[in-house]
Amino acid sequence: MEIIRVKDAAAGGKRAFEIIQQAMKDGIHTLGLATGSTPITLYQEMIASDLDFSEMTSINLDEYVGLGGEDKQSYRYFMNENLFNQKPFKETFVPNGKAEDLAAECKRYDDVIATHPIDIQILGIGRNGHIGFNEPGTPLDSQTSVVDLTESTIEANKRFFDKVEDVPTKAVSMGIGSILQGKKMILMAYGEDKADAIAGMVNGPVTPDLPASALQNHADVVVIVDDAAASKL
Ligand code: F6R
Repeated sequence: MEIIRVKDAAAGGKRAFEIIQQAMKDGIHTLGLATGSTPITLYQEMIASDLDFSEMTSINLDEYVGLGGEDKQSYRYFMNENLFNQKPFKETFVPNGKAEDLAAECKRYDDVIATHPIDIQILGIGRNGHIGFNEPGTPLDSQTSVVDLTESTIEANKRFFDKVEDVPTKAVSMGIGSILQGKKMILMAYGEDKADAIAGMVNGPVTPDLPASALQNHADVVVIVDDAAASKL
């Protein structure tokens, strides 16, 4: 893992953007994208740039079960608002959280990943070490599936909802195995509440107890952290 320390989230977004910019010059086609607070500064850099994404494909990590793209808390809505409306891509994939047959939707999504190999996967990390919505205990070779969110994740995400009862308890998430198929990973983390997860991911054992530790088994991982997130390394 290459660890890059930055001053703050703005500098982290810039750094991640530079890596993507160079890779696009080198001819990549597909970005794996994340939602949440962490990638916002990266998306701001992408929007402010003159890079053209109209020949690029994006594949998002996850979506809440039960929410459709018109729901303001859905991840499809988040991506439209924070990136796609300003920077159109050729195609954008986000799991369909309202699919009637969720098992078929998971299979469809793994087929999408297989036919559009991800060149660079953008990741955030949960306080409990989750990547995507793969909570502790998820097998490290998991494929896209319907997952139960833990109390701590529901608690962390309630800031986007009116009340905690509104936070969905399930999501469709790319599996850890699906994520690791990407050719390059860029994981970003800012703030003190990510410090334990980052320390475990970098220096701890590879274990389902801390899903992000699986990244130790990937050959090309860049970790972009501010001082607070790196404080326990
Ligand atoms: C979001 C995702 C999650 C987040 C993680 C951190 O698509 O897959 O793993 O990256 O929960 O969230 P933030 O960035 O809000 O701290």
